[in-house]
Amino acid sequence: MKIVVLTGGISTERDVSLSSGSMIYQALCRKGHQVMLLDVYLGYEGEIGEELFSQSGDTGAGMSEIMMTHPDLESVKAMRPDGGSIYFGPQVIEICRQADIVFMAIHGDGETGRIQAAFDLMGIRYTGSGYVGSAIAMDKALTKEIFLQNKIPTPGSFAMKRGEEEPGQVSFPCVVKVCNGGSSVGVYICEDQAGYAAAKEEAYRYDNEILVEQYIKGREFSVGVIEGKALPAIEIAPLEGFYDYKNKYQAGSTIETCPADIPREAEMRLRQAAEGAFRALRLQAYARMDFMMNEQGEIFCLEANTLPGMTPTSLLPQEAAAQGMDFETLCEHLIEVSLRKQRE
Ligand SMILES: Nc1ncnc2c1ncn2[C@@H]1O[C@H](COP(=O)(O)OP(=O)(O)O)[C@@H](O)[C@H]1O
Ligand SMILES: [Mg+2]
Repeated sequence: MKIVVLTGGISTERDVSLSSGSMIYQALCRKGHQVMLLDVYLGYEGEIGEELFSQSGDTGAGMSEIMMTHPDLESVKAMRPDGGSIYFGPQVIEICRQADIVFMAIHGDGETGRIQAAFDLMGIRYTGSGYVGSAIAMDKALTKEIFLQNKIPTPGSFAMKRGEEEPGQVSFPCVVKVCNGGSSVGVYICEDQAGYAAAKEEAYRYDNEILVEQYIKGREFSVGVIEGKALPAIEIAPLEGFYDYKNKYQAGSTIETCPADIPREAEMRLRQAAEGAFRALRLQAYARMDFMMNEQGEIFCLEANTLPGMTPTSLLPQEAAAQGMDFETLCEHLIEVSLRKQRE
């Protein structure tokens, strides 16, 4: 198959995307596909010919490292000779139209649904959810309204826009997070009023809408879903602090256990909630839901990730591995289920 692995983008998750993209690219090359790794924002300036799609698996240096600081997006923007007046980089649409499918490896701005909507109009096929599910899941406040309507357990919360007042007393500890963020950027755990005031100020630097959520003390899990069916839950236990940007991407900073060491009954509740969330949010092909479990064993769904991390050590690939599916096979499988979705 001819596949474009579309990566990069211009969000705080740019580096994470480049890492997923290069791993998916190499895996699909090893499976014998003709693949091109393409930065959605920077595009491709060379000639468009057959040789664009290679099977060599060579991505060039530096594509797979995630920096421990957020990417310098201003310097990325400066690399666009046309000033970046349209989102898609040079020739991105032309190249994607030549592929049988585009593998979406753009966390952050690839999860808003906007690229999916544009691709629908242009007849370009892609992996993962369509534009409706993507847009719903990208908005944590809207996601939680749908969770409540569908009896998916989730921490109590209220949403607030810049300049608005709290609807009532805030109790501590609480979590302040941006409504449209990811990778724990703009997520703050607040112990008191002073911490809360500082967190709000920080969060509003990223987004005009924030969510203030009840803090759940306990264990953390994540559950991948493929074609509506849950994978085994994975437990995430950072050695220090919570599952923030550093603990997500710095090797060795978090203990991840899959299958999780929990009673079968708790595993079933997690899987059921993940499948329920997938359905309720109108997700397609695959996704991954994040959960907290309190000390009484009650579970709470935090959010859905429509394009979860896709390196061999990312959470969803570890869950697939626990079911006997290696990374290369998983990448191919996600393409198969995504093509099936587009034929529905
Ligand atoms: N209500 C909460 N209680 C306890 N921890 C939380 C809560 N919300 C978020 N966290 C912590 O913050 C991390 C990031 O929050 P999440 O809602 O998943 O946003 P992101 O999109 O950034 O992953 C979670 O993985 C968890 O460790
Ligand atoms: Mg999360």
